Amino acid sequence: MRILMVCLGNICRSPLAEGVLQHKAGKAGLQWSVESAGTGAWHAGEPPHHLSIKVAKLNGVDISNQRARQFVKEDFLNYDFIYVMDSSNYVDVKHMSGTLWNEAKIDLLLNTLYPGENRAVPDPWYGKEDGYHKVYEMIDAACDRIIQKHTQEIRATK
Ligand code: 4NP
Repeated sequence: MRILMVCLGNICRSPLAEGVLQHKAGKAGLQWSVESAGTGAWHAGEPPHHLSIKVAKLNGVDISNQRARQFVKEDFLNYDFIYVMDSSNYVDVKHMSGTLWNEAKIDLLLNTLYPGENRAVPDPWYGKEDGYHKVYEMIDAACDRIIQKHTQEIRATK
Protein backbone atom coordinates (compact mmCIF):
# COMPACT_ATOMS: atom_id res chain seq x y z
CA MET A 1 0.00 0.00 0.00
CA ARG A 2 1.22 3.45 -0.91
CA ILE A 3 -0.71 6.24 0.81
CA LEU A 4 -0.41 10.01 0.35
CA MET A 5 -1.60 12.52 2.98
CA VAL A 6 -2.41 15.99 1.60
CA CYS A 7 -3.04 19.38 3.24
CA LEU A 8 -2.45 22.99 2.17
CA GLY A 9 1.11 23.77 3.26
CA ASN A 10 2.50 20.26 3.96
CA ILE A 11 4.08 21.55 7.14
CA CYS A 12 1.41 21.19 9.88
CA ARG A 13 -1.31 18.53 9.33
CA SER A 14 -0.21 16.15 6.58
CA PRO A 15 3.31 15.63 8.03
CA LEU A 16 1.61 14.51 11.26
CA ALA A 17 -0.71 12.21 9.29
CA GLU A 18 2.27 10.76 7.38
CA GLY A 19 4.27 10.16 10.56
CA VAL A 20 1.39 8.72 12.58
CA LEU A 21 0.12 6.31 9.91
CA GLN A 22 3.64 5.17 9.00
CA HIS A 23 4.35 4.54 12.69
CA LYS A 24 1.11 2.59 13.24
CA ALA A 25 1.54 0.56 10.05
CA GLY A 26 5.05 -0.40 11.17
CA LYS A 27 3.78 -1.48 14.58
CA ALA A 28 1.04 -3.55 12.87
CA GLY A 29 3.66 -5.30 10.69
CA LEU A 30 2.36 -3.74 7.47
CA GLN A 31 4.84 -2.90 4.69
CA TRP A 32 3.19 0.42 3.85
CA SER A 33 4.76 3.48 2.34
CA VAL A 34 3.13 6.67 3.64
CA GLU A 35 4.11 10.09 2.30
CA SER A 36 2.63 13.61 2.26
CA ALA A 37 2.30 16.68 0.07
CA GLY A 38 0.68 20.13 0.03
CA THR A 39 -1.53 21.73 -2.59
CA GLY A 40 0.54 24.91 -2.13
CA ALA A 41 4.25 25.25 -2.88
CA TRP A 42 5.19 28.00 -0.38
CA HIS A 43 6.98 25.66 2.01
CA ALA A 44 8.50 23.17 -0.45
CA GLY A 45 11.79 21.83 0.88
CA GLU A 46 11.08 22.91 4.47
CA PRO A 47 10.82 20.62 7.51
CA PRO A 48 7.47 20.40 9.33
CA HIS A 49 6.32 23.25 11.61
CA HIS A 50 8.18 23.14 14.94
CA LEU A 51 4.92 22.56 16.86
CA SER A 52 4.00 19.58 14.66
CA ILE A 53 7.50 18.17 15.29
CA LYS A 54 7.10 18.80 19.04
CA VAL A 55 3.63 17.25 19.38
CA ALA A 56 4.63 14.21 17.31
CA LYS A 57 7.73 13.74 19.45
CA LEU A 58 5.69 13.93 22.67
CA ASN A 59 3.70 11.02 21.22
CA GLY A 60 6.79 9.01 20.26
CA VAL A 61 6.76 9.81 16.53
CA ASP A 62 9.75 11.48 14.83
CA ILE A 63 8.74 13.60 11.81
CA SER A 64 11.78 15.91 11.84
CA ASN A 65 13.35 14.40 8.71
CA GLN A 66 10.34 15.08 6.50
CA ARG A 67 10.55 17.78 3.81
CA ALA A 68 7.56 19.51 2.23
CA ARG A 69 6.68 19.10 -1.42
CA GLN A 70 3.80 20.18 -3.61
CA PHE A 71 1.14 17.73 -4.80
CA VAL A 72 1.43 16.77 -8.48
CA LYS A 73 -1.30 15.14 -10.56
CA GLU A 74 0.87 12.06 -11.18
CA ASP A 75 0.45 11.28 -7.48
CA PHE A 76 -2.82 9.66 -8.54
CA LEU A 77 -0.76 7.10 -10.49
CA ASN A 78 1.89 6.59 -7.83
CA TYR A 79 -0.29 6.05 -4.74
CA ASP A 80 -3.07 3.58 -3.94
CA PHE A 81 -5.00 6.11 -1.89
CA ILE A 82 -4.93 9.83 -1.09
CA TYR A 83 -6.33 11.32 2.13
CA VAL A 84 -6.96 15.07 2.28
CA MET A 85 -7.45 17.04 5.50
CA ASP A 86 -10.39 19.25 4.45
CA SER A 87 -12.85 20.01 1.67
CA SER A 88 -10.78 22.82 0.19
CA ASN A 89 -7.82 20.42 -0.16
CA TYR A 90 -10.21 18.06 -1.98
CA VAL A 91 -11.34 20.76 -4.41
CA ASP A 92 -7.76 21.98 -4.96
CA VAL A 93 -6.50 18.45 -5.71
CA LYS A 94 -9.40 17.96 -8.14
CA HIS A 95 -8.50 21.17 -9.99
CA MET A 96 -4.80 20.27 -10.08
CA SER A 97 -5.32 16.71 -11.33
CA GLY A 98 -7.16 17.14 -14.62
CA THR A 99 -7.70 13.82 -16.38
CA LEU A 100 -5.72 11.92 -13.72
CA TRP A 101 -8.38 12.70 -11.07
CA ASN A 102 -9.78 9.43 -9.67
CA GLU A 103 -12.61 9.82 -7.18
CA ALA A 104 -12.27 6.19 -6.05
CA LYS A 105 -8.76 6.89 -4.76
CA ILE A 106 -9.37 9.96 -2.58
CA ASP A 107 -11.34 10.92 0.52
CA LEU A 108 -11.23 13.24 3.52
CA LEU A 109 -9.24 11.63 6.34
CA LEU A 110 -12.04 12.03 8.92
CA ASN A 111 -14.54 10.25 6.66
CA THR A 112 -12.80 7.07 7.88
CA LEU A 113 -14.37 7.81 11.29
CA TYR A 114 -17.48 9.72 10.22
CA PRO A 115 -18.41 8.38 6.76
CA GLY A 116 -19.85 10.95 4.40
CA GLU A 117 -19.79 13.83 6.92
CA ASN A 118 -16.82 15.59 5.29
CA ARG A 119 -15.48 16.80 8.64
CA ALA A 120 -12.24 18.79 8.48
CA VAL A 121 -8.97 18.34 10.30
CA PRO A 122 -8.73 22.08 11.10
CA ASP A 123 -5.71 24.06 10.02
CA PRO A 124 -3.65 24.82 13.18
CA TRP A 125 -1.28 27.20 11.29
CA TYR A 126 -2.73 30.45 12.72
CA GLY A 127 -3.30 29.13 16.25
CA LYS A 128 -1.40 28.09 19.36
CA GLU A 129 0.05 24.77 20.53
CA ASP A 130 -3.26 23.37 21.81
CA GLY A 131 -4.54 23.36 18.21
CA TYR A 132 -1.70 21.03 17.22
CA HIS A 133 -2.59 18.64 20.07
CA LYS A 134 -6.24 18.57 18.94
CA VAL A 135 -5.19 17.91 15.36
CA TYR A 136 -2.88 15.13 16.55
CA GLU A 137 -5.74 13.42 18.42
CA MET A 138 -8.02 13.53 15.36
CA ILE A 139 -5.30 12.17 13.07
CA ASP A 140 -4.35 9.48 15.61
CA ALA A 141 -7.95 8.22 15.85
CA ALA A 142 -8.41 8.24 12.05
CA CYS A 143 -5.15 6.33 11.52
CA ASP A 144 -6.16 3.72 14.11
CA ARG A 145 -9.37 3.24 12.11
CA ILE A 146 -7.49 2.91 8.81
CA ILE A 147 -5.26 0.15 10.23
CA GLN A 148 -8.19 -1.57 11.96
CA LYS A 149 -10.31 -1.58 8.78
CA HIS A 150 -7.41 -2.87 6.69
CA THR A 151 -6.60 -5.75 9.08
CA GLN A 152 -10.31 -6.69 9.26
CA GLU A 153 -10.49 -6.80 5.46
CA ILE A 154 -7.40 -9.02 5.30
CA ARG A 155 -8.89 -11.42 7.88
CA ALA A 156 -12.18 -11.54 5.94
CA THR A 157 -10.41 -12.61 2.74
CA LYS A 158 -8.44 -15.42 4.45
P1 4NP B 1 -1.01 22.88 6.77
O1 4NP B 1 -1.04 24.35 7.41
O2 4NP B 1 -1.88 22.93 5.53
O3 4NP B 1 -1.64 22.00 7.82
O4 4NP B 1 0.42 22.54 6.48
C1 4NP B 1 -0.64 25.49 6.70
C2 4NP B 1 0.68 25.84 6.66
C3 4NP B 1 1.08 26.99 5.99
C4 4NP B 1 0.13 27.76 5.35
C5 4NP B 1 -1.20 27.40 5.37
C6 4NP B 1 -1.58 26.25 6.05
N1 4NP B 1 0.52 28.94 4.66
O5 4NP B 1 -0.37 29.69 4.19
O6 4NP B 1 1.73 29.21 4.52
